[in-house]
Amino acid sequence: MKQESKPVHGMWASRWVFILAATGSAVGLGNIWRFPYITGENGGGAFVLLYLLCIAVVGVPIMAAEVMLGRKGGMSPINTMRKLAAESKVTQRWSWIGYMGVLSAFLILSFYSVVASWALYYTWEAVQGAFQGITAAQSGARFDDMLASPWLMMGYHTLFMLLTMVVVGRGVKGGLEKAVQILMPLLFVLLLVLVGYAATTPGFMQGIEFLFAFDFSKLNGQAVITAVGQAFFTLSLGMGAIMAYGAYMPRQVPGKAGKKKPVSIMSTVIIIALLDTLVALGSGVAMFPLLFSGGLEAGQGPGMMFVTLPLAFGQMPGGLLFGSLFFVLVVCAAWSSSISLAEPVVAWLVEKGVNRAMSSVIVGLGAWVLGLGSVLSFNIWKDKTFLVGTFFDNMEFLSTTIMLPLGGLLIAVFAGWVMKETHARKELAMKSFPLYLVWRALVRIFSPVAVIVLVVYSVWSTFA
Ligand code: PHE
Ligand code: NA
Repeated sequence: MKQESKPVHGMWASRWVFILAATGSAVGLGNIWRFPYITGENGGGAFVLLYLLCIAVVGVPIMAAEVMLGRKGGMSPINTMRKLAAESKVTQRWSWIGYMGVLSAFLILSFYSVVASWALYYTWEAVQGAFQGITAAQSGARFDDMLASPWLMMGYHTLFMLLTMVVVGRGVKGGLEKAVQILMPLLFVLLLVLVGYAATTPGFMQGIEFLFAFDFSKLNGQAVITAVGQAFFTLSLGMGAIMAYGAYMPRQVPGKAGKKKPVSIMSTVIIIALLDTLVALGSGVAMFPLLFSGGLEAGQGPGMMFVTLPLAFGQMPGGLLFGSLFFVLVVCAAWSSSISLAEPVVAWLVEKGVNRAMSSVIVGLGAWVLGLGSVLSFNIWKDKTFLVGTFFDNMEFLSTTIMLPLGGLLIAVFAGWVMKETHARKELAMKSFPLYLVWRALVRIFSPVAVIVLVVYSVWSTFA
């Protein structure tokens, strides 16, 4: 049998470490910041159901495909796709999946850092007790004040980008692996505390109802597009982050009686998707009751998390401690995601011969400059709107709603149609053959068709 080559950038120590790293990538602002606010804007329950459906039938299968391609190729997404295209005797143009991913990475990292930097600023505020006894109106005003200061925002944006560059520059294995092992469990515990607190507020039932009662009249084409986009964004799919992490995933681990046990991709991916979904739903359950208790509207927009959470922490016993801790964790969750945004690009530059430190400076600097546009979108450029809104709105829309689904579509097509079937089956190593067939049908037919229809519709409805 042909010996499979070892990945050049190193390998995760075990299946469990891969799960932690991929969960670190998945769980982030997409769950705590984005999920609650887009749910609010799209009317609640029916949207949540739609989102869960997208995770199950589009997200999970494509995630498995992406990990599978990555592990097979063992390199940065661009070179993984080159290698697999050569193996499959098809055109090298398939490496465009990788280049498109690089572009998505820059777009997302640029605005991701800006929102993460809000959490950084809020950590500082929380520690100082700025939220103690605050009212809903005051909380909203505080957030608006922050947005109105371009220099303040630029400072924190710079700080967060530096944090990201430092870790990526040192290699993911050195720091991140250990960090996520402590931070992820802690995040779950604190989220539970917040959910518990939300349950004591008068708006709890209203919040739960909003999240879980389906009113399908609120659904429209736009909501469907948003739900699919969110499924890609929250699972870090369609731009190569998961492919890059998959490249460092072991094929076999030591099993019973000294025998090697194959590491199944599908069961691993399902665990990651479940954890990600739990954090998203938990964040919604923690935030909506507070919104309604404070007499605020559901369609708060991007500021939702930053208006509701200070309210909770300002009133609950031990709020100073919990609040500070929670924002630290949001920063960490965003951090472990931003690293995975930069990693595919950095890994590619490293393969080109640039050293790792230099590569992360290049990537960080590029995304930082682009991020300034998002910083200004909330103040100086607030009224400069085009296409779907401000510069920030356009970055978010273009990457999340167009580029990630398109990237995911190409990944699905490659895994389902282009690659040799026996290769895919062997790499996936699924225990159940019928389930494998379900995966194959979803990746070959369902996901591509769904994504094409939606992207065409969303481009048409936005620009026509
Ligand atoms: N999944 C991350 C989140 O939910 C965002 C992300 C997208 C990270 C794409 C990497 C790649 O916050
Ligand atoms: Na996520």
